[in-house]
Amino acid sequence: MVKVAVLVSGGGTNLQALIDAQAAGKLGTGKISLVLSSSAKAYALTRAENAKIPSVVVRRRDFESAQEYDHAIVTALQEHGIQLVVLAGFLSILGTEVIDAYRDRIINIHPSLIPSFCGDGFYGLKVHEAALAYGVKVTGATVHLVNEITDGGSILLQKAVAVQEGDTPETLQRRVMEQAEWELLPRATAMLCEQIEQ
Ligand code: GRF
Repeated sequence: MVKVAVLVSGGGTNLQALIDAQAAGKLGTGKISLVLSSSAKAYALTRAENAKIPSVVVRRRDFESAQEYDHAIVTALQEHGIQLVVLAGFLSILGTEVIDAYRDRIINIHPSLIPSFCGDGFYGLKVHEAALAYGVKVTGATVHLVNEITDGGSILLQKAVAVQEGDTPETLQRRVMEQAEWELLPRATAMLCEQIEQ
């Protein structure tokens, strides 16, 4: 068994996809053992509670420095014996202590085909606004390893999604989630868990 932590900040539909995959036996040796939220109001926390997964809230504003915040995240992960960290709509920036402690053991889902529409400032609806403004006909989602560069780690999985006439950022975001994110994140998690177990 590989203990997985899911880091969230919002609605947690990607967390839900992971919970559903685990229930369906599609998370391989992975077991979601902790949900860590950067916000006390995240609906993802309710999803964790419903699935009886322990959760913890670690908020940046409760710490004086970014280093102390980072240390609190590492401590929470280590207290739960976490081996793999999955960022699922986690809006906070991870510092070097977490990245070093979990080198090649942190994955993120980004709602575009990297290297398009990624990096600093490209999060949430902004990614889809930028894709529509550029006029691309195909977008998608990417699961990648996390390193010190925003959205810059090695790509693990990608899936393309068609942009449709009349799309708004919201309709495009929903299609990218349904057709790509909710499928890719559990697959990548299972893949990494298998590697860790070996
Ligand atoms: C997703 O689009 C994800 O790719 C992005 O933030 C959104 C999170 O949605 N990084 P949810 O909280 O999983 O519903």
